[in-house]
Amino acid sequence: MTDELTAIRLQYEKHGARGYYQRHGADYRNPHEDVIGQALRAVVAQWPLDLACVLDLACGSGEATLVLRELGATQIEGVDPYTQAAYRARTGQAAEGFDFAAIAAGALRGRQYSLIVCSFALHLTEASRLPLLAFELSELAPQLLVLTPHKRPLLKPEWGWRLREETVIERVRARWFESAAAL
Ligand SMILES: C[S@@+](CC[C@H](N)C(=O)[O-])C[C@H]1O[C@@H](n2cnc3c(N)ncnc32)[C@H](O)[C@@H]1O
Repeated sequence: MTDELTAIRLQYEKHGARGYYQRHGADYRNPHEDVIGQALRAVVAQWPLDLACVLDLACGSGEATLVLRELGATQIEGVDPYTQAAYRARTGQAAEGFDFAAIAAGALRGRQYSLIVCSFALHLTEASRLPLLAFELSELAPQLLVLTPHKRPLLKPEWGWRLREETVIERVRARWFESAAAL
């Protein structure tokens, strides 16, 4: 494990994930950024993901946004409760500060995106909140792309999403879901 990863893991253990991002969000950089880029490039080449209007959910410092731009996406909105300064610094655009709880409670209701991308973050949602969050997301977009270093979280069809494709690239799991509302 690199020194950077070890340092992050120790901070997670000491402060919890929320405490870590509260303390470090302003200068956050994902040490897995290279492989996130590789995974995004691979799945955009393989799957018919619609990049017309993308929500980068839990957008960090723009790790996914910057690659999606390079792949042709021109309209990308970022949301993240802790990393707005880092996102602005790297992407030149503002992110909104909604967290998973606010989105599960309907903060984004009424919007429409072509695709939601959630990279290395959905596992941070409390398990009890995941069904409602997933359902709210399914009303916002017909497609969801989840990148994760873990097997979880699994989204169930009764929460509004059907798994279309799954692949693993350099230990990053990519899952493409289609929303029940779009079928
Ligand atoms: C491992 S980083 C991933 C960032 C970026 N998407 C990437 O791929 O590098 C996890 C992100 O989740 C965000 N996050 C943490 N807790 C959250 C919550 N409760 N609601 C929404 N986002 C949260 C953090 O601010 C952080 O940007």
